[in-house]
Amino acid sequence: MSRSILILLAHPLPDSLCAALARTYADNARRAGHQVTLLELASLQFDPLLRHGYRQSQPLEPDLESAAQALQACDHLVLVYPTWWGAMPALLKGFLDRLLLPGFAFRYRRGSVWWDRLLAGRSARVITTMDTPPWYYRWLYSDPGIAQLRRTVLQFCGIAPVRVTRLGPVRSSSPARRQRWLQAIARLGAAGR
Ligand SMILES: Cc1cc2nc3c(=O)[nH]c(=O)nc-3n(C[C@H](O)[C@H](O)[C@H](O)COP(=O)(O)O)c2cc1C
Repeated sequence: MSRSILILLAHPLPDSLCAALARTYADNARRAGHQVTLLELASLQFDPLLRHGYRQSQPLEPDLESAAQALQACDHLVLVYPTWWGAMPALLKGFLDRLLLPGFAFRYRRGSVWWDRLLAGRSARVITTMDTPPWYYRWLYSDPGIAQLRRTVLQFCGIAPVRVTRLGPVRSSSPARRQRWLQAIARLGAAGR
């Protein structure tokens, strides 16, 4: 089944492992017949500060307008980022702060603690690189960035299931190991998962 896939690459460097992973996912997904949009967040023009919280609206820059349309149009979202200080880099956090607005991503019900999840019907894959061994990050640090992204961001907006690929330690990895990681991501791309 062909899917409409939006890939968000949140790494500033084009020669990073993250960039290679995002491109590999995109190339293999396209080759398998999926519709793919790859957004490199570092090259978008937008203010990553939500300057008034939710008190006052802040007009979306054209790049954020396009990103919002791409998110509406996709049925699978892929986020690729390096783990920095235990979680997503500020670039991705700022992008999500600006984009996932009430009325677009969620809506609180009047007089209730509950809310509607306006992005339901989409699944996600999180791909993150790290220097910590992933088992250590997951079980000793309690998976902080993943818990945040999966439960309090993506599932909050209705995006589920959220599958995760943690890759590391990058710092001490051999070229052969990185090649195996790229092959694993190629298979995910081809499957649109
Ligand atoms: C500002 C910064 C903070 C980092 N914090 C962490 C961290 O909390 N945990 C970790 O495992 N690695 C951390 N790292 C290492 C990166 O995760 C690692 O360099 C990256 O995943 C390598 O992949 P890349 O080539 O795609 O950048 C940090 C790196 C930087 C630059």
